[in-house]
Amino acid sequence: MEQFWTRDSIDKNKGLIEHLRQYGVIRSNKVAEVMETIDRGLFVPDGIPAYVDTPMQIGYNATISAPHMHAMCLELLENNLQPGMHALDVGSGTGFLTACFAMMVGPQGRAVGVEHIPELLATSIENIQKSQAAQLMKGGSLSVHVGDGRLGWPEFAPYDAIHVGAAAAEIPQPLIDQLKPGGRMVIPVGNLFQDLKVVDKKLDGLISIRTETSVRYVPLTSREAQLRGY
Ligand SMILES: C[S@@+](CC[C@H](N)C(=O)[O-])C[C@H]1O[C@@H](n2cnc3c(N)ncnc32)[C@H](O)[C@@H]1O
Repeated sequence: MEQFWTRDSIDKNKGLIEHLRQYGVIRSNKVAEVMETIDRGLFVPDGIPAYVDTPMQIGYNATISAPHMHAMCLELLENNLQPGMHALDVGSGTGFLTACFAMMVGPQGRAVGVEHIPELLATSIENIQKSQAAQLMKGGSLSVHVGDGRLGWPEFAPYDAIHVGAAAAEIPQPLIDQLKPGGRMVIPVGNLFQDLKVVDKKLDGLISIRTETSVRYVPLTSREAQLRGY
């Protein structure tokens, strides 16, 4: 098997996770374990520093989110990323979080990424193929698709967990519809000022929404608007 990672990158990724633990961003052993297993260095373009806690440009007016945001979203969704569960990653970008979701839900589960820039999607497939999640993609429990993520991905709905990696002006109704009773969605909402919302669908179908924190994400928009620079 081709070796894509080096001792140095493994050590740096471990160092990043350790840093996030020390600052209390990561409290869950499971989240630490999955972020150690999925090496961020395999998901950033060449020449871009991978192991610093900041978002980085990946082209096409998109970014890879900062490690502390990845960690926070994984922690918020952890209970809905148990083995066998279904997870949707809207605006999957580099594929990093989709790969983490796939590791958590395992081969009996389903991790689905939707990205609307075909070039980013193609790169995300290459990234995932270099990572520890490659076998899950080969086995079919991890898949990524080109599409407008505001419509979700009905084929594998309903989802126990939905993550949206770009800020929506309003929560798209198809995503609420595709959330399973008992499911949870984490989505940044707003324009210039955004809140990370945690949307829970109770077992009786009632929706509750709370604000976790203030955030700054690129917009969830049309492909044309994004390529124009919004
Ligand atoms: C912050 S970036 C990437 C986040 C990803 N979690 C990561 O860390 O690699 C947000 C992504 O959402 C994508 N995006 C924006 N609007 C979208 C839409 N309507 N449908 C699908 N993807 C969208 C962008 O192209 C971009 O890749």
